[in-house]
Amino acid sequence: MIKGKFPIEKFKNIETPFYYYDVDLLNKTLELVGKCSKEHGFEVHYAVKANANKKVLGIISGAGLGADCVSGNEVQAAIEAGFPANKIVFAGVGKTDKEINLALDNDIFCFNAESIPELEVIDELAGKKGKIANVELRINPNVDAHTHQKITTGLNENKFGFNIEDLPFIVKMIQRSKNLKFVGLHFHIGSQITDLTVYESLCVRINEIQDDFDKWGVKVENINIGGGLGINYEHPNHIPIADFESYFRIFSKHLKLREGQRLHCEPGRSLVAQCGSLITKVTYVKKGVNKQFAIVDAGMTDLIRPALYDAYHRIENISSDNPVEKYDVVGPICESSDVFDKDVELNRTQRGDYLAIRSAGAYGEIMASGYNLRKLPLGYLSTEL
Ligand code: LLP
Repeated sequence: MIKGKFPIEKFKNIETPFYYYDVDLLNKTLELVGKCSKEHGFEVHYAVKANANKKVLGIISGAGLGADCVSGNEVQAAIEAGFPANKIVFAGVGKTDKEINLALDNDIFCFNAESIPELEVIDELAGKKGKIANVELRINPNVDAHTHQKITTGLNENKFGFNIEDLPFIVKMIQRSKNLKFVGLHFHIGSQITDLTVYESLCVRINEIQDDFDKWGVKVENINIGGGLGINYEHPNHIPIADFESYFRIFSKHLKLREGQRLHCEPGRSLVAQCGSLITKVTYVKKGVNKQFAIVDAGMTDLIRPALYDAYHRIENISSDNPVEKYDVVGPICESSDVFDKDVELNRTQRGDYLAIRSAGAYGEIMASGYNLRKLPLGYLSTEL
């Protein structure tokens, strides 16, 4: 079994479970994204929701990216981490007045607006401050992302975005307002997209929508195609970096940009997932009738993806080179869904061994909870150990 490389000696002084971030891999990923985005003229906004660990945010802002935020606290965290306000976009169907005010006070690049009542509130609050708020309209393109039902967002039945038929009215409404400026269109159809032809369909749809805007005589300055590029959860050691080359190439090839139009994207998972592992220690090995269980000190409170989405995360015993045996790897939480995976092949495992639950840098630490009064896991960079 090919395993990732981990500095186990250094782990001995750290309380488990914890997240471990491989900075070298994160930097390599950022370098590739920087290179591709320059080549194809993309502006990249990191989706902060994937991982808002301060140290991770610091590295990503240092690479010159913008930020995609979905709450006032994310806007605040992005600014504190050094993301320039004029590269911050703010999405979400339920932005509160307080969050909108915070974004206005910081002069962020734009709001990705999702409903008429939201536009009315942004209009009113911007007016009170004597400011003009840039807005992109999030459009629900009705493109199926072919991904997990809980992380697909671009279909008519989802709660996100505007319906296309409403657009002429909405654009007129924005043009009438003194406090709103229409600056572009925003799309996001889902997450963990591995069938890249889905993005070709998105391009076709965007081209059609752009034709409509041309007909209405409305200029669209920015096209934001959201995030969603998937990673390889099965083979984090062989395929540690997502296929950014193909991703950027598809949009360059299929999207018909108008003159002067700027293209934006909002990757989250594809930037940070593979650099992160949840490190946990085996508390007990328990023999069942037909199975054996590796009971670890991490639980669904630390990494909820397997319990919530039946998500697969590769698990490696990084302490042992013994021959492989099968285990159900389970946490200590009083919920039967507190299972990381069943029938996992691990090098023979004993109490005290370290397991690495891989590809956990996105939607891992940030989705942790304190259920059962558990401590939130901390995150450490490889460079600080
Ligand atoms: N932009 C918007 C508007 C989004 O809603 C999202 C993710 C992204 C960008 C970033 O997508 P990414 O590149 O990370 O796929 N907790 C789930 C994922 C939820 C994604 C929600 N939206 C999971 O653990 O799989």
